Amino acid sequence: MKKILALILVLALSVFAFAACSSDKDENKGAQTENEVEAVQDDKETATLKMATNAAFPPYEYKEGEKFVGIDVEIAREIAAELGCELEIIDMEFDSIITSVNAGEADFGMAGMTVTEDRLKEVDFSDSYATGVQSIIVKSGSTIKTPDDLAGKKIGVQLGTTGDIYSCDDFGEENVTKFSKGADAVLALKGGEVDAVIIDNEPAKAFVAANTGLEILGTDYAVEDYAIAIKKGNTELLTKINDALETLSENGTIDTIIGKYISAE
Ligand code: ARG
Repeated sequence: MKKILALILVLALSVFAFAACSSDKDENKGAQTENEVEAVQDDKETATLKMATNAAFPPYEYKEGEKFVGIDVEIAREIAAELGCELEIIDMEFDSIITSVNAGEADFGMAGMTVTEDRLKEVDFSDSYATGVQSIIVKSGSTIKTPDDLAGKKIGVQLGTTGDIYSCDDFGEENVTKFSKGADAVLALKGGEVDAVIIDNEPAKAFVAANTGLEILGTDYAVEDYAIAIKKGNTELLTKINDALETLSENGTIDTIIGKYISAE
């Protein structure tokens, strides 16, 4: 009896210690024998924290060759290090991130993701680690000068983003064209298929810098908070991520990472 109790304790402790990172070894789940207890402890080396993202959103997440880079990617690597896990990045459509977190395919979603009332019904959010602004990109010299001028115009957005949601609410779904990537919306703007693109300010700056003949309107469309999405009720991971964010914010790591990608204005 004592042996069984000790075994349960060992199992409980190892599950507690590594619960933040998911195991690649599925056969260890529900380990019952002493041999399997050892296998559970081996997970220490392979424990991974899986991040769902959409790596087409510079400077937050994008690819340099095969490598994932950007503010979110670097902050996520630091969070994983704080939690003693390896970081695995799963690149997907922005629109699929919340579903993948809820399905348990990813442990968290990090993608310059804005905290909204509707999303809070589906997932929990960490403390905010950055501020975002929805900006409007137009062709240089466009007659669109303020958000109000968008009425009746064709607007391009990235599918499932707040730019998509707000512009459908404000200007009617029939006026909004949804693209899989922000960069595709920008190409459509250059090609004259849409009159404006609504997207977060930092990607907007990156897209305008990479293309000629585009400009960002001086008036912001919306101000938002970015946070990390976690499966509803996974308070253990939420607490660990919030603790890590607090440490990384207090020791200046987050500011250093942001400063590396965004020059102070
Ligand atoms: N902040 C916006 C939102 O949460 C856009 C985020 C898009 N992110 C991305 N990685 N494509 O809806």
